[in-house]
Amino acid sequence: MAVAADVWHDQAAGTWLLQTHSTGYAFGLADAGAALRHLHWGPGLRAEVPAALLAVAGGEPPRWDRSRSGARELPDEYVPWGGLRFDEPSLKAEYADGTRSTEWRYVAQRLARQAATVTLELDFADTAYGLTTTLAYRVYDGFDVIERWAVLRNGGGHPVAIRQAHSANWWLPDRARWRLRYLHGGWGAETRLAEATLGPGKLVLESRRGTTSHQFNPWFTLDPGGQATEDNGEVWSGALAWSGSWKLVYELTSAGHLHACGGLNDFDWMVRLLPGDKIVLPSFPALYTDGGFGAASREWHAWARAHVIGRGDRTGVAGPRWRASAALRSPSPEASSGGRPEDGSTPGAGQPGPGPRLRPVLYNSWEATSFAVTQDGQERLAERAARIGVERFVVDDGWFRGRDNDHAGLGDWTVDDTKFPYGLGPLVKRVNGLGMSFGLWVEPEMVNPDSDLYRAHPDWVYHFAHRTRTEHRNQLVLNLARPDVAEWVFGQIDRLLTENNIEFIKWDMNRPFSEPGWPAEAGRNPERIWVDHVRSLYSILDGLRAAHPGVEFESCSGGGGRADLGILGRAEQIWTSDNTDAWDRILIQEGFTQVFPPQVMMAWVTDSPNWWTERRASLRFRFHVAMAGALGIGGDLSRWTEREMAEAAELIATYKLIRPVIQHGRLYRLASVTTDPYGACQYLTDDGTQVVILAWWGPSSSGGGRPALRLAALDPGARYTDADSGQEYWGAELLHEGLPLPGAIRGDFVSALVRLVRRAS
Ligand code: DGJ
Repeated sequence: MAVAADVWHDQAAGTWLLQTHSTGYAFGLADAGAALRHLHWGPGLRAEVPAALLAVAGGEPPRWDRSRSGARELPDEYVPWGGLRFDEPSLKAEYADGTRSTEWRYVAQRLARQAATVTLELDFADTAYGLTTTLAYRVYDGFDVIERWAVLRNGGGHPVAIRQAHSANWWLPDRARWRLRYLHGGWGAETRLAEATLGPGKLVLESRRGTTSHQFNPWFTLDPGGQATEDNGEVWSGALAWSGSWKLVYELTSAGHLHACGGLNDFDWMVRLLPGDKIVLPSFPALYTDGGFGAASREWHAWARAHVIGRGDRTGVAGPRWRASAALRSPSPEASSGGRPEDGSTPGAGQPGPGPRLRPVLYNSWEATSFAVTQDGQERLAERAARIGVERFVVDDGWFRGRDNDHAGLGDWTVDDTKFPYGLGPLVKRVNGLGMSFGLWVEPEMVNPDSDLYRAHPDWVYHFAHRTRTEHRNQLVLNLARPDVAEWVFGQIDRLLTENNIEFIKWDMNRPFSEPGWPAEAGRNPERIWVDHVRSLYSILDGLRAAHPGVEFESCSGGGGRADLGILGRAEQIWTSDNTDAWDRILIQEGFTQVFPPQVMMAWVTDSPNWWTERRASLRFRFHVAMAGALGIGGDLSRWTEREMAEAAELIATYKLIRPVIQHGRLYRLASVTTDPYGACQYLTDDGTQVVILAWWGPSSSGGGRPALRLAALDPGARYTDADSGQEYWGAELLHEGLPLPGAIRGDFVSALVRLVRRAS
């Protein structure tokens, strides 16, 4: 039974208590409204407790004694820089007369209950200038996620320069030691779990690349003393919903208090708010649980399914919404007018609605054909894909004019008529005739210098005057902060979607930013591009989704370089990594599912030996690894033997049976290849009746043994039947003795898939 979220306000004391499903979060006004002090984040509290906590904390108790640091290290919910403040601030503003600190007073609150959420907004007005800062909090019925963001409004008569503006500042309770876990990686090695013990000082993780990045992902867990396990212990976890450059700071202050704060990366960024302007900072949700890392992940997954995937903007303010317009549908790059932006409102973030649909089994031709796509070749692959039960056929890179390799063509989004003499129409028709939906790859934020688009508009890319335009993968980044460029990009994809029965777009982005300049705007705050690019991307995607509601999107950035809760508002799935080696994928997937639900984790079965690692693995093993998420096939089906085709058909049929459990169930990580002799995941439906177990063994080693697989979260008193063998077990037996593994598990890279059904008592 979902517990309703609520916000309790004690007006006399000046405190607020956010009540989530099973946790509490409290803060209160101090210094006559000049500060908002953090009071509690952890287990649920009685409504009267925050007032008592404030009486202590508001009066600068020993806990926040300034004697050790000489600084004013009070736990402010959001820290405007100024005074004796030396820890990481939340806000640094510069006013027109040169004043560079902020002092403010609380002025008002707004509380809004919508169907499944309660949103609290608190306004703080600068005491001398027209800048108002709104701190926003949202809680969700049935969840422990607390979402925070901030809005800055310039209501004065002069510009205000914002040089640093975080989304949230999360204070942790005082504990002796803290462990930080985070995700790092690189191309082909995304979302690897790493950890660090935090000592005094700051640990800063960030992306300065213009996108979320392969290198670090804006998600974390913090657990005291490094004591939490997969199943137990206190864990605080946060994940920034932003797809551009970001910065998260974990600071153990000199007085020994820990805060985790961040949002937009302030590096090279500044926004000048003109009178009347505002900036809405990205959402930064976080949660507390005492159920260990597994419970934290399950909370993220369930919340993302209910409130994030495909729900658009989280903070209620979208950029311009582009409207489909016939004038935009010209294939010529010169056509850049006609679409009219209109103010967009959020298409439902935080509101209840049907959960995301199950992901279809997809085929993608990239590893099979690379750029050598032709109508005949794709049709042959489509026919074989349909034979094994694929439901969606996706043509990847190489279908458009001039695109025979990665040196040319990006930007010229018209079909290559040497490869598709009659356009995409006949292939789409054939794919649909085979019972599959059709999907297409695009990379709309990019241009090759060798393209008609670049020849016509060399000023449309980010660049600095008198500086090299650094190419990466022979491409440059289009300046989406320019409204005409954004409108053109929208128009190109809108045209493709209007002219063809395309039901899925894989939206790629294969390079980071460099030379992030906009010379024509010199002196008019061109540094704003870091944020405006992402806002523009979001509004293009929101606009396309509104104009083509049946179309689903995949976020790709050279693999998993754009995986975050911001893009998930506009994408049904994420391409996890270009590394499709099944053994490597187990680790990448373990990191990915710390925060993202299995259903958005796109995983392909590709050929053996793997093109990247040259590792050989059986088809069954490759399937069993890919079945842990949204299953896709990416191998060259024209080379698969009849035996492999038959085995693939059988495995895809099995996946369709277990898909609701994998994609909408609860994930329990039973064992990790990093610490155990095998990796294993269990998926359990919400009603507890269906269980799926996937287990994977790596290179065999003698003496390691095959310890039993102990299952999780079953009813000890219930009976469970193995759906394939008919064998019956007591829940207690599976929980304590473990699941006897089917058959002999011998050799390298072997796997098991077990389906259990709880017997009705
Ligand atoms: C990078 C993606 O991650 C690949 O899957 C593929 O789409 C290529 N780009 C195409 O250029």
